[in-house]
Amino acid sequence: MTTSSSRPVRPRRSVLYLPANNARALDKLPGLSCDGVVFDLEDSIAPVAKDEARESLRRFFSDGRAAALPAGMEKVIRINSLSSPWGSEDLLAARGCRPDAILIPKVDAPEGILAVEDALDQTDAPAALRLWAMIETPRGVMNAGQIARMARTDGARLDCFITGTNDLLKETGVASLPGRPWLSSWLMQIVLAARAYGLDVLDGVYNDFRDEAGLVRECTDGQAMGFDGKTLIHPAQIAPANQAFGIAEEQLAQARAVAEAFALPENRGRGVISLDGKMVERLHLEMAERLIEKAKRIAARQGEGQTT
Ligand code: COA
Ligand code: MG
Repeated sequence: MTTSSSRPVRPRRSVLYLPANNARALDKLPGLSCDGVVFDLEDSIAPVAKDEARESLRRFFSDGRAAALPAGMEKVIRINSLSSPWGSEDLLAARGCRPDAILIPKVDAPEGILAVEDALDQTDAPAALRLWAMIETPRGVMNAGQIARMARTDGARLDCFITGTNDLLKETGVASLPGRPWLSSWLMQIVLAARAYGLDVLDGVYNDFRDEAGLVRECTDGQAMGFDGKTLIHPAQIAPANQAFGIAEEQLAQARAVAEAFALPENRGRGVISLDGKMVERLHLEMAERLIEKAKRIAARQGEGQTT
């Protein structure tokens, strides 16, 4: 059974959308320090440019440029919905590119995941290919728990939720305000659903990419709400997201202290101990071990030549 404490630890602090037909953005990608990239075939591509974007992506993945990206940078392709005129062709193209994951937009119900899983199984897609789902419609939020539960079925590929805040605002009429007062309860529902079934979950984008202070505030909120990272639209947003969703030195030192305390011979058989005047339980040890593992993986990303 996958629970929040047994799911694999992967830094997903910063995941950058990149319109698949934007040649300059594709050229820039190898030098960027995002933990993941979503090559977009959906909303950032106009209907008249869909074929060109698919072709651009095919070339990027077949001519060695994708393989040359840093190993720790997750490669995800966002397809159009299977119910759209482009979805089936996108799915075939995406599968052929062999990314780490395919991102399904506007998932309303578990059937939205099943349909893509079935289509992938028909093409003998590799078992390692993951699915990510965008929760961005009123029904998607209402059904988030049922959708997340798909991660529990045999051979499930579902691995991560992304909240699509722009679509949610559009569909609901909720005002876009600093601090997201009216949106937050739905975001928390999505976080809870993801955690119930061991999925990672990423916060929506911050549109005003020249407003660093605003982005930092929203990243800080998102981190406190339990998100693993933030989806981004511009390279300037990567460093603030890596910082906000990263691990501070004091946090790491505290985690090491907890691990060391439980490793002492006198504490090996104990469920609860006292450390610096605070109660520490074995659940804190689990959290500390995950944090230490995540810090190692972040350090490995930095070792790949990344600077933030
Ligand atoms: N990924 C990689 N590189 C990007 C990028 C991205 N998402 N957005 C911008 N860049 C690059 C630009 O190509 C430019 O590169 P250059 O210096 O080689 O010319 C550099 O960063 C500076 O870009 P800038 O001029 O500040 O922005 P822009 O006007 O070119 O682009 C946007 C602004 C919003 C149109 C662009 O950032 C974008 O398309 N973002 C993604 C949108 C998206 O995918 N939306 C769907 C999900 S919400
Ligand atoms: Mg959307």
